[in-house]
Amino acid sequence: MSLEELSLQYKGLFLPRETHSEDSLQFVHEFKFEDDDVLSVTYPKSGTTWMQEVVPLILNDGDLTPIQTIPNWDRSPWLEETRLSIVVDKLKSPRALTSHFLYELMPASFHQSKAKVIYVMRNPKDIAVSFYYFHHSASFLEDPGTFEEFLDKFLEGKLVFGKWTDHIKSWKNAKLRDRIIYITYEEMKEDLPAVVRSLSSFLGKNLSDEVIHKIAHHCSFDVMKNNPMSNFSLVPKIYIDHEKSPFLRKGVTGDWKNHFTSEQLRRFCSTIKKEMEGESFTLPWSLD
Ligand code: A3P
Repeated sequence: MSLEELSLQYKGLFLPRETHSEDSLQFVHEFKFEDDDVLSVTYPKSGTTWMQEVVPLILNDGDLTPIQTIPNWDRSPWLEETRLSIVVDKLKSPRALTSHFLYELMPASFHQSKAKVIYVMRNPKDIAVSFYYFHHSASFLEDPGTFEEFLDKFLEGKLVFGKWTDHIKSWKNAKLRDRIIYITYEEMKEDLPAVVRSLSSFLGKNLSDEVIHKIAHHCSFDVMKNNPMSNFSLVPKIYIDHEKSPFLRKGVTGDWKNHFTSEQLRRFCSTIKKEMEGESFTLPWSLD
């Protein structure tokens, strides 16, 4: 089925019908943020599930109960998805929430609150590869076609949640001062304990080194891959077929090198560079 058939259109974005509805979009519009809410925001395939593991552990002082008993989609539900209205009353404060939305789509109460935002970014070349494989395994997403065809869709933003450059510009230009922290997937790969430490202090948690290392261990790729509450194995195969591509696929940086031809790399980098012209921020990855 095509992107149009599989998606709802909302304020210029395509959203998967499987997990979004007119009601869920109305629900987010009226959603009341609380001052101690923690919202992890990502463009898909940037480290969303990873942050859904890290944040509840930090907020619970390293107690493993949330990641051992609650699936990630209920532990840190997506603001825009249908699940939120079902689980919202069960969330304990401070609530961990997730979103793929642009800053401009945040409801009014977000702006009136002091809710904090963790924005996770990833090298777009690796996002494109990860998203390509996810389109193979997820029946609620359009068939990706060839990698070449998928790259065109990625660069044009003809995918669910739109164009990556629009997403990053939206949140990088959000004037949220000390309410937002920017983290990269690559930093998390390089030194997860350091990221857990800086997130803890951002969230006002004073965690011991022992707890920080415990959290980092439980959020490692290998441990998460074996955690049924986090590896999407609870989702029926008709929605996500892990035999086509596991959700926790490789968990590395630089897999793009195994997929891009030199011509694809040139086109990809020049398109992104062009879209970034005039922006006041720079990207933390080389665009060559
Ligand atoms: P790959 O497909 O490159 O392996 P999201 O959760 O935003 O959909 O992103 C999924 C990507 O994050 C996948 O990338 C997945 O393997 C990776 N990921 C999830 N948990 C991870 C972890 N603990 N360490 C490294 N990568 C992780």
